[in-house]
Amino acid sequence: MAERATWTTRIGFLVAAIGSAVGLGNIWQFPFKTGANGGSSFLVFYLIAVVAIGFPALLGEFVLGRRTRLNAIDAFGELGHRQWRIVGALGVATGFWILSYYNVVGGWVMRYIVGSATGAYFDAPAEYFGAVSAGPEAIAAQALFVLVVVGIVALGVEDGIEKATKVMVPSIVLLMLAMAVWAFTLEGGAAGYEYFLSPDLDTLLANAGTAIPFAVSQAFFTLSLGMAIMVTFSSYVGNDDNLAVDGGIIVGTNTLIGVLAGLVVFPVLFANGIDPATSGPSAIFIAMASGFAELPAGRLLGVVFFGVVLIAALSSAISLLEVSVSWATDNYDIGRVPLAAGLGVGLFVLGLPSAWDTAWLTWFDNLAYQLLLPVSVLFAMLFVGWVLGDEALTEIRQGMSGMDWFGPAWLWTVRIVVVAGVAVTLVLGLRTLFV
Ligand code: PHE
Ligand code: NA
Repeated sequence: MAERATWTTRIGFLVAAIGSAVGLGNIWQFPFKTGANGGSSFLVFYLIAVVAIGFPALLGEFVLGRRTRLNAIDAFGELGHRQWRIVGALGVATGFWILSYYNVVGGWVMRYIVGSATGAYFDAPAEYFGAVSAGPEAIAAQALFVLVVVGIVALGVEDGIEKATKVMVPSIVLLMLAMAVWAFTLEGGAAGYEYFLSPDLDTLLANAGTAIPFAVSQAFFTLSLGMAIMVTFSSYVGNDDNLAVDGGIIVGTNTLIGVLAGLVVFPVLFANGIDPATSGPSAIFIAMASGFAELPAGRLLGVVFFGVVLIAALSSAISLLEVSVSWATDNYDIGRVPLAAGLGVGLFVLGLPSAWDTAWLTWFDNLAYQLLLPVSVLFAMLFVGWVLGDEALTEIRQGMSGMDWFGPAWLWTVRIVVVAGVAVTLVLGLRTLFV
């Protein structure tokens, strides 16, 4: 990356950022975290977390990238004391950790494309999930997913994925809308809306201690924050771009797709008598499989649905691997192919426990949510808010005309709301991890 061109179009940046953001976090994780943490009360905490913490933190990462036009690790060192590069490195490590089990779930999605085509899960969706989500079959699928991700990054053919992302986003929205309409017609599904959409204050307060840390970290995970990704992407953004508007588009699209997934999953689970509080990582898979088993042309619909989810998962996984690869090729004399291959092997090995047993996957996931993501975002935002301070203000103001109030409001939100919110998340999260 000797020459650091800006994106040829602003659309290029938006597509890449949305491609990274929209993924398994929205379609797989959001419904099951919601189910595990109190349903509608989780949704309330999550939406607050997205607006008050996720959105300002996203802009914070944009500021770092555009100010320095460097990769995430070197960006910290350039703007502050060299030691701050540790925070960038922590982001890369967090992303690597997450990708290790993300690949496993990506493997499940591939498996479900085949399962849809053959109708293998039609008779017993829950048993099918149990059989393919762990053990040798899951490892084989994980290996295949890693191979595709590494292959795309090694060959440098992400252009193809960028084009696929442009189709993927509208397809997901349309598919989810159609599925949501169908879910609406299910007998017994109404309880699902009740569960997902009607919060009451008592449950809200009773759940706060466990729901808040999951909700805040869900916002980070789903927006690809704390993983050095958005810093890297924004290093190519033009100075005339209004970062707040771009960030708003990304956050809005990403949130919409998660909520739509919930509008499908919860009615389907209730219609099939499945308890969302205990279904865990299987929720979306069992819900969709039960749906396709009953629908006309279910095989075709299943292939299309899981195919689109696969594109979403690939574009997210690729964005993450790309960050490590471009940082290393920036700094060391290693070729793309051996580097991507080596990282792929490392990711595969780190993901083996998660592929072997979903209990391990849950453990890896909890460690990311309760420790790695909040620590990574906390230090990054301390840096943006309190070390950069006015320089961050100058940067966010670039390309922003007629929104004079926005810069200071954003900076103080980062300094106080984001920092305090993430600190609380960390304390509460560590408690759930060790108690
Ligand atoms: N934002 C992605 C999603 O919601 C998560 C992610 C991106 C995870 C990149 C790892 C790497 O699916
Ligand atoms: Na997401």
